[in-house]
Amino acid sequence: MSSPINNSILIVDDIPTNIKVLFDILNQAGFRVTVAKNGQSALAKARKSLPNLILLDVMMPGIDGFETCRYLKADAKTKDIPIIFMTARSDTVDKVKGLQLGAVDYITKPIQHEEVLARINVHLELRRIQLRLAQEEKMSSLGQLVAGIAHEINNPVNFIYGNLIHAQNNIIDLLNLIKLYENYTVNPIPEIQKFSQDIELEFIKQDLPNLLSSLMMGTERVEKIVRSLRLFSRLEDAEFQLFNIHEGIDSTIIILSHRLKASATNPEINIIKEYGDIPLVECYAGKLNQVFMNLLANAIDALEESVINKKRDNELTIKIRTAVTDDQKSILVEIADNGVGIPLDVQQTIFEQFYTTKPLGKGTGLGLAIAHEIIVEKHGGSLEVKSTPGEGAQFLITIPIQQV
Ligand SMILES: Nc1ncnc2c1ncn2[C@@H]1O[C@H](COP(=O)(O)OP(=O)(O)OP(=O)(O)O)[C@@H](O)[C@H]1O
Ligand SMILES: [Mg+2]
Repeated sequence: MSSPINNSILIVDDIPTNIKVLFDILNQAGFRVTVAKNGQSALAKARKSLPNLILLDVMMPGIDGFETCRYLKADAKTKDIPIIFMTARSDTVDKVKGLQLGAVDYITKPIQHEEVLARINVHLELRRIQLRLAQEEKMSSLGQLVAGIAHEINNPVNFIYGNLIHAQNNIIDLLNLIKLYENYTVNPIPEIQKFSQDIELEFIKQDLPNLLSSLMMGTERVEKIVRSLRLFSRLEDAEFQLFNIHEGIDSTIIILSHRLKASATNPEINIIKEYGDIPLVECYAGKLNQVFMNLLANAIDALEESVINKKRDNELTIKIRTAVTDDQKSILVEIADNGVGIPLDVQQTIFEQFYTTKPLGKGTGLGLAIAHEIIVEKHGGSLEVKSTPGEGAQFLITIPIQQV
């Protein structure tokens, strides 16, 4: 996934021959290259296309390279893009100044073909590793947090659950005892009669069993959520294991449930489950949960965006369908939302690393790249997208039932 084609580079230089030399080198190496001829236009282009790396000339008329760098670093949208300075002089002062301003490296002119490519690749790789670590760190700290909370809730819930059964039996015994007293008391004592009326004994007798079964149901529900959370957080993924995909999806939905509820800005998101009869799947369970997490989070983002974009009159939905594929060898998971959808021309680009349409700090553009890697490379499955822009997007995952 780290082939040059996934990476875009912005060249900023005022001298056409310099631009041409660089453009040819990078273009031939397979990078997507954009060009800006001065600082001003570089700022605009960087903000718009968010390149993976910027090659920045120091000496330019108007705002020079240093100034341009300062602006880029001050803007939340562009501040994390690695900048490599190009300086014509072997001037140490310039180099140090550039690095102090936040550039990651410099190259000196005249440009050495191999050197430029080597340095660019080092910095792209560094940035890729950093972002990936951040994603993994996010997943693993989420996992730890969830495991911790689930563990803490687990004890009290078991305590309630375990005692509730005894309480239920005891209460039924006591109610039967009252019945016996009533049957064998020929002349009821007025004080007891009055108290029975005051506390509405007849109602209690009828209601208490219902109340107990509600308590039981509520506790069972909490117990189920805790079980899901523990399942989600089991990240011991050293080996393939047999995994119930439905449990994985359900536990991921629970983790995201706060984003599904109606809020001041968004209506509720309905999850429609069409679960088929599928077998356990041999896979890395924690990794598959990560895929479900990324796809569901994207669907929620797309639905929220559609609310911002226009007043919609239909419900916000995410449909999750599972089935066995026709050849019986794989299972299919379809996650479809009716959010903003994806323009045709970027439907393949979305799987590339760093491609994001979300504001910096919100999206890293790694979610789908990682999902793709997990499904295709780690499990030998497939991940595809279909979308009608404006109407929603549909992601189709297939995972082999057995690994060979
Ligand atoms: N369900 C969807 N509907 C519309 N657009 C989508 C959907 N899923 C993904 N996209 C588009 O694909 C882009 C890349 O998605 P990806 O998950 O890789 O990165 P991201 O969500 O932007 O950031 P993050 O790394 O935090 O996941 C998104 O920015 C968005 O433009
Ligand atoms: Mg995402």
